[in-house]
Amino acid sequence: MEKILCASMMCADFGNLRESVHQLEEAGIDVFHCDIMDGTFVPNFTMGVTDVKAIAAAATKPVDCHLMIDNPANKVEWFIKAGASIIYIHPESERYVVKTLAHIKELGASAGIAINPDTSIPSIEEILNLCDYVMVMTVNPGFSGQKFVQFTRDKIARLAKLKEKYGFKIMVDGACSPQVIDDLSKLGADGFVLGTSALFREGGTYAQHIAALR
Ligand code: DX5
Ligand code: ZN
Repeated sequence: MEKILCASMMCADFGNLRESVHQLEEAGIDVFHCDIMDGTFVPNFTMGVTDVKAIAAAATKPVDCHLMIDNPANKVEWFIKAGASIIYIHPESERYVVKTLAHIKELGASAGIAINPDTSIPSIEEILNLCDYVMVMTVNPGFSGQKFVQFTRDKIARLAKLKEKYGFKIMVDGACSPQVIDDLSKLGADGFVLGTSALFREGGTYAQHIAALR
């Protein structure tokens, strides 16, 4: 199965956003990954609705929003209206996860959960059948350029055993280097968020980095 490669747009050149989106599409990216942070759920503040609108307006590929925000329920609609077709919420930030996942689908988007390194698989098993995607954070969310959290590797292997039963795809977010992508693909991960570890870095063009990952 072909890997789903998502460009982490918080790492993109916001001084040249439209051109960056076009370059990334030409380079073969599959999804634009928009990290939305509120400064409370994670100690950082990155992109907003306006940025998602600009990316979606320039893109022909799907746009996702990774909501690292408290109480996402009444905000998911903003990002879907802005052009996101995939919404990830953190179960750690939402009291009524089932309702919010259903709400995302009612609005016509695909629904995913993103889980922090210390969030256990058993604690989310009841909602796995409601998810199109499960995004495993392999860093503590909030910043690019962090170190891979090693114990998340085993978590991905355990989660992969549940894919068949519940029908979700496994996405990985954080410190996804070419080596990590190769290793976790073999464990059953379906897609990866590409930031400074694999795409927004020296040593080649976007197209060369993406081709090397295919
Ligand atoms: C972390 C972000 C990731 C991150 C990935 O909170 O969600 O998208 O930017 O990029 P690197 O490869 O720098 O970890
Ligand atoms: Zn993310």
